Amino acid sequence: MMRRLTTAATKATPVSGEDAGTGKAAMRIDAISIFPQYFDALQLSLIGKAIEHGLLDVRAHDLREFTHDRHRTVDDTPYGGGAGMVMKPEPWGEALDSLLADDDSARRPVLIVPSPSGHPFTQEIAADLAGKDHLVFACGRYEGIDHRVLDWAADHFDVRELSLGDYVLNGGEVAALAMIETVVRLVPGVIGNPQSLVEESYSVSTEGMLEYPVYTKPAVWRDLEVPGVLLSGDHGAVDDWRAERSREITAERRPDLL
Ligand code: ADE
Repeated sequence: MMRRLTTAATKATPVSGEDAGTGKAAMRIDAISIFPQYFDALQLSLIGKAIEHGLLDVRAHDLREFTHDRHRTVDDTPYGGGAGMVMKPEPWGEALDSLLADDDSARRPVLIVPSPSGHPFTQEIAADLAGKDHLVFACGRYEGIDHRVLDWAADHFDVRELSLGDYVLNGGEVAALAMIETVVRLVPGVIGNPQSLVEESYSVSTEGMLEYPVYTKPAVWRDLEVPGVLLSGDHGAVDDWRAERSREITAERRPDLL
């Protein structure tokens, strides 16, 4: 079963797939997984709103729909031996064929394969992906997907193997969700106030440093006071204080970023 997360958008979005407000085609995102329910979470919050408003067209597909045996088998033992199972190429091939047949974007779609052995996923990569028309996430489980799928896909997709970090998840779904959220919040119109994107960690305006700490009312809470400079009304002093805190925090936690 394909889960289209655009139930409301089918009403709001013209047949052309264009957003009525901007005239720009919605960014299309497909995720293929044996657990497509993971992607239901994208209906929440600002991303859910962007889907409703037709800025994003998100579809999750069950890989088992592309199997033909009674047990809907998606894995098999690894050639060469070793522990664990490997995802069979045939269901992946059919799933990707079906997406290519349904792709009407001008450029070749980007196929993202989340994997602990991938290139590190960064804010810079996210910003690049935010400008694409169509992203496909291939979420593997077990020991991974038969590598011929990626070799074959390179003739049809812009293939990127990407890692969320130096740790191992049970599968690509949680990594794909993190990547989707990081990318789509950079798509114009998804975040209500684009200024909030400007001053966050890893952005160009903070020079790639970590963000300074933030405070809100009340000025005193459980005997703890907000740093006085933030109440001073002196914008230059506030900027200097924030830049200094960013530098200190980055030096302590992520000296590699300096
Ligand atoms: N799949 C399993 N672990 C992963 C990771 N760290 N990043 C991306 N995909 C993964």
